Amino acid sequence: MSITAIKNHNKSPGSQKLQDEEQLFTNLRARAWNEFTGQNKIKESLQISIAAAKKRQEALEHILLYGPPGLGKTTLAHLIAQEMGVNIRVTSGPAIERAGDLAAILTNLQEKDCLFIDEIHRLQKTVEETLYPAMEDYCLDIVIGKGPSARTVRLDLPHFTIIGATTRIGLLSSPMRDRFGVIHRLNHYEIADLSIIIAQAALRLNIPIDEISIKELAQRARGTPRIALKLLKRVRDMAQVKGSGEITPDLVHTTFELLEVDPLGLDEIDRKLLLSIIEKHAGGPVGIETLAATISEDVGTVEDVLEPFLLQTGLLKRTPRGRMVTKRGYAHVGKSIPSHLLQDVLFN
Ligand SMILES: Nc1ncnc2c1ncn2[C@@H]1O[C@H](COP(=O)(O)OP(=O)(O)O)[C@@H](O)[C@H]1O
Ligand SMILES: [Mg+2]
Repeated sequence: MSITAIKNHNKSPGSQKLQDEEQLFTNLRARAWNEFTGQNKIKESLQISIAAAKKRQEALEHILLYGPPGLGKTTLAHLIAQEMGVNIRVTSGPAIERAGDLAAILTNLQEKDCLFIDEIHRLQKTVEETLYPAMEDYCLDIVIGKGPSARTVRLDLPHFTIIGATTRIGLLSSPMRDRFGVIHRLNHYEIADLSIIIAQAALRLNIPIDEISIKELAQRARGTPRIALKLLKRVRDMAQVKGSGEITPDLVHTTFELLEVDPLGLDEIDRKLLLSIIEKHAGGPVGIETLAATISEDVGTVEDVLEPFLLQTGLLKRTPRGRMVTKRGYAHVGKSIPSHLLQDVLFN
């Protein structure tokens, strides 16, 4: 599987291999706060919310977690429920097809339970509207019967907590967003934090690995724990097939070459994106739709998965007129800046 497939895993069909990998992630999921590395501000702020709710003996406020895939949203949701000492029920936006499905889930919750809704931006409108009074007043308005004899019955719900997760905060309606008392954006991780995550996982999976290899993996993981863990797994496979079973820096390099992952962690699709702006759009600026079409990816993937990392590493920039490659971006793909853009690229 390529890194592109790794990055797109949420959108890929559920083959056995992907399911195995998903299982691996579930097994590696942090089971306590001290196993969840980094994101310290978010962790602290959540711990305060939790402690306060516990002290008041109330349900936790509704929490929205957003940010690129693989940064720990699902993991945090489980940790929150665990710390609250309540059950967590897991579902996702597209899985709740009708308002009735939501009603069934909500009426089965117990006092203070957490309901984790992944991809919450993909909720149906009718489901979303049913969720509003449920989140605000802990009640459901259910219509019984049809036509003139139809009547609405109000059903009380236990005081529960919604933990919503999304990679696309921009697609969430504002009434939905407003109903969350706590909103956190997860950021990409520092190399030091990724190194700890890799070392912990290697220990848990019983993979012998040295510090240089850990650092190399961390550097190419695009600031993303999920990618770090996938790379670790790929290197382990390589060590078992090609080497003595032990992971060495040489083996790590061979694996990167095979996967076409460069020293910044960019793979062919990232480079294709940068090169297409430079070569097919005269250096830009180019709109996101056009850009996505040029590299045959959907806009969502470009926006959620490819772009955040390129922006963060300073290889790409957003301008009011579209995306442009930065000076660093030109240098990274070994291209020179076209003369008509020198001013823009060098001084803006
Ligand atoms: N801060 C972290 N510390 C340790 N492991 C992490 C951390 N964040 C994510 N992971 C690991 O990375 C994998 C992907 O995390 P996940 O919670 O599924 O991300 P998301 O829901 O944001 O896509 C999981 O196996 C998880 O254990
Ligand atoms: Mg998730």
